[in-house]
Amino acid sequence: MEAGVDKLFESLRSWEHPAMNLFSGEALLEDVVKVILDMDPGIDDALAIILALNSPELEILGITTVSGNVHVEKTSANTLRVLEAVGGGDIPVYRGAERPLVKDLVTAEWVHGEDGLGDAGLPKPSRQTRDGAVKFLTETLMSEKDVTVVATGPLTNIALTLALEPEIRSRLGRLVLMGGAFGLTPYGHGNATPVSEFNIHVDPEAAKIVFESGVNPLCVGLDITTDPATTLKREDVERLASAGTAEARTAARIIRKFVERFGFMQLHDPMAVAAAVKPSLFKTSMQHVYVVCEGDLTRGQTIIERRFWVQSQPNTEICTKVQPQDFLKMFFERLGAE
Ligand code: BDR
Ligand code: CA
Repeated sequence: MEAGVDKLFESLRSWEHPAMNLFSGEALLEDVVKVILDMDPGIDDALAIILALNSPELEILGITTVSGNVHVEKTSANTLRVLEAVGGGDIPVYRGAERPLVKDLVTAEWVHGEDGLGDAGLPKPSRQTRDGAVKFLTETLMSEKDVTVVATGPLTNIALTLALEPEIRSRLGRLVLMGGAFGLTPYGHGNATPVSEFNIHVDPEAAKIVFESGVNPLCVGLDITTDPATTLKREDVERLASAGTAEARTAARIIRKFVERFGFMQLHDPMAVAAAVKPSLFKTSMQHVYVVCEGDLTRGQTIIERRFWVQSQPNTEICTKVQPQDFLKMFFERLGAE
C-alpha cells in the first residue's frame, strides 16, 4: 500500500501521471496561491483578469482598482464589466487611488479607448464597486499570510499600503508587477517616454516606495512583454472570436479595435498573471533598480546599477526571458481557444 502511494507520488513528480493533464502541470503539486489583483483596466488588464479567473492555481481574494490607463471611476466599472462578461461576478472589487501620490494623472485613452476597454461596447455593470482598496489590501495582507499581489497598473495603492502598514513587507507572499523597462533585452526601452514604462511613469514616487521597500518585487517589464514572439497578431483575434467560450469572445471584442489599428497586441498584464501562475516559464535576474522621479522624458525610468565598484543590494527580481510558445499556449488554452 505504502509503496503504491510512493509510486503514485513519484509518477506525479515526474509528470508521467495522466492526472497531470487536468491542469497545466504544477497545480496538483503546489498549493493554490491566494492573490489580489491591483489594476487599471485597460484592455490588457482585462485579458489578465480573464486569464487569472481561468487559472486553477490561483484563488482571487479580490480586485483593487487604480487610476492609470483611464480614471479609476472607469477602471473600476471596467473591472466589473469584464468579470460579469466571463462569470466572475461574485469577486469583490474595491475602488482605489484616484490620482498618483505627487504628480497629476496621465492617462492613455489613445491606446485603450475612451472607455478604457477598447470601446467595444461591453454592457454596463449591474453592481457597484466597494470603496477602500487600500483598507482591503491592508486588512487582507495583515490577516492572511503569503498572499501574492499581482499589480498591473500604477503602484499608488501598493505604495500606500506598504507605507501605512510596514509589517506587510514580511507578511506578503510575493509582489508580482507589470512595470519597468530595464534594458536587459533589445526590447527593454520605454513606451510612455523613450525610456519609461507607462505604469512606473504615471506614479514614479509610488514605484520608488515599492522598489525601496524591501519586498523585492518580481517585475514583468517591457524587456519581455514587447518581444514580438509573445504578442497577438491579427489572425489571433479571429481565433478568439470564433472560439466557443465567453472568455475568448470577450477578449476578442475588447482587443479588436486595437489590433485592427496597430496589427498586434502586447500581452503585458496577462504575462504578469502567468508569472504568478507558472514561474517556471520565466528566467529572472536579481538587480538593484533605481526609479527616476524627475524630468519630462525620464520620469518613471527604471535604471539598473551596473557599476561594479558600487556596493548595492539587489532589490528587484527582473524577468529577462519567457518561453513564448508555452506562454501563448497557456493563454489560448485557458481562454478556451486552443
Ligand atoms: C502597461 O501600461 C498599461 O497601458 C498597460 O495596461 C500595462 O499595464 C504597459 O506598459
Ligand atoms: Ca495595466
